[in-house]
Amino acid sequence: MDRIRIVGGRPLEGIIPISGAKNAALPLMIASLLTEEPLILENVPRLADVKQLERILENHGVDIAVHGRRSGTDAMDGQRMTFHASEIVDTTAPYELVSKMRASFWVVGPLLARMGEAKVSLPGGCAIGTRPVDLLIMALERLGATIEIDGGYVIARAKNGLKGGEIEFPKVTVGGTHTALMAASLASGETVIENAAREPEVVDVADCLIKMGAKITGHGTSRIVVQGVSRLNGARHAVLPDRIETGTYAMAVAMTGGDVLLEGARPELLQSALETLGQAGAEITVSNAGIRVVRNGAGIRPVEVTTAPFPGFPTDLQAQLMGLMTRAKGTSRITETIFENRFMHVQELARLGARIALDGQNATIEGVEKLKGAPVMATDLRASVSLVIAALAAEGETMVNRVYHLDRGFERLEDKLGRCGATVERISG
Ligand code: UD1
Repeated sequence: MDRIRIVGGRPLEGIIPISGAKNAALPLMIASLLTEEPLILENVPRLADVKQLERILENHGVDIAVHGRRSGTDAMDGQRMTFHASEIVDTTAPYELVSKMRASFWVVGPLLARMGEAKVSLPGGCAIGTRPVDLLIMALERLGATIEIDGGYVIARAKNGLKGGEIEFPKVTVGGTHTALMAASLASGETVIENAAREPEVVDVADCLIKMGAKITGHGTSRIVVQGVSRLNGARHAVLPDRIETGTYAMAVAMTGGDVLLEGARPELLQSALETLGQAGAEITVSNAGIRVVRNGAGIRPVEVTTAPFPGFPTDLQAQLMGLMTRAKGTSRITETIFENRFMHVQELARLGARIALDGQNATIEGVEKLKGAPVMATDLRASVSLVIAALAAEGETMVNRVYHLDRGFERLEDKLGRCGATVERISG
């Protein structure tokens, strides 16, 4: 199992190219199941989760090709990939494949819409709370599907096709909104999705579906209207930049001090996190090239933050912010409202000398003068990168174990940080 060794204490200086968003790439790949024509995706990040979803899609019969380099591109540029589901040969997504990644459950929507049936294992994924799929099932039922749960599988049927309907989500769910959007695109008649997720990745998927011939309005607001069509066509679409990766590196710079351009980053995707970073003492400037983050001299100021659906502060940056606040001059408070059990990084941060008290969904962080390197263990995707942030400012060596969590969501993390002067190396085996 790979490990990452970090020696802290050096400011970050340079350029970090921002990859395509994992959380958009995954549903976009899944959207390829909706059409027998090829879907070409550009700027697809090289991530373990993308590879895992490739296996799942291949099992359904999707031909996948990774295009070679083009002139003017380098190894940091995203991949161009074609997904071609000319024939769906299997409507079952088996446990061995789905259990590794929660988002793979989302194949249920397109399979059901195109084939009239889908049998998909209940998902696994990050251990951050119970993360049920009841709302995804509710959405499909509102479109006329019958659902049975048997032997750990969700069996969805709509023999005569899906029919448009009203879907009102009692809470904002990204996966529920993706599922409803994809299924409704091929349903007959109109679907209205109320309390829809407004996350940029939902908008990106809707934009791609529109290129494929779907009739969608209102994406980016909490009321999306879909007029179903009988078939969708192929398209070409570039995955939007990863706002979570952007926010993560912005926090790393705020932590170590220094001056980094986050190349290709788009500020409107993470306004709330950038405001928080400003309050914490980072200087943020925006240009056509991306977002520049600078912190010189001034210490890190404490903040109070509550996670919320977009446009609020993202739960996927909560652990990283906590990593940063371990060195603030004063007391910070972070409240997690999206997932229960998303504080697994707290114990590991404590191994580096952080002082954090937990009370239910609230964390109180007393900033400390210095952190000290130690062996730590990555527990989930975002938690593990919070350890990297803390390690970059810790005295001495930190060894991050179980790096496969990082590889699920961060492309070439050690290269990107290493190029900016950090001492970070991967130890294989
Ligand atoms: C997606 C993101 C994940 C992010 C999360 C919230 C991807 C691949 N993953 O996950 O990184 O942290 O959005 O921004 O895009 N819920 C239910 N029933 C359901 C579905 C969800 O109760 O059927 C609850 C969840 O337990 C959670 C909340 O709704 O408390 C939000 O979850 P949701 O937005 O669905 O998260 P994901 O789509 O799984």
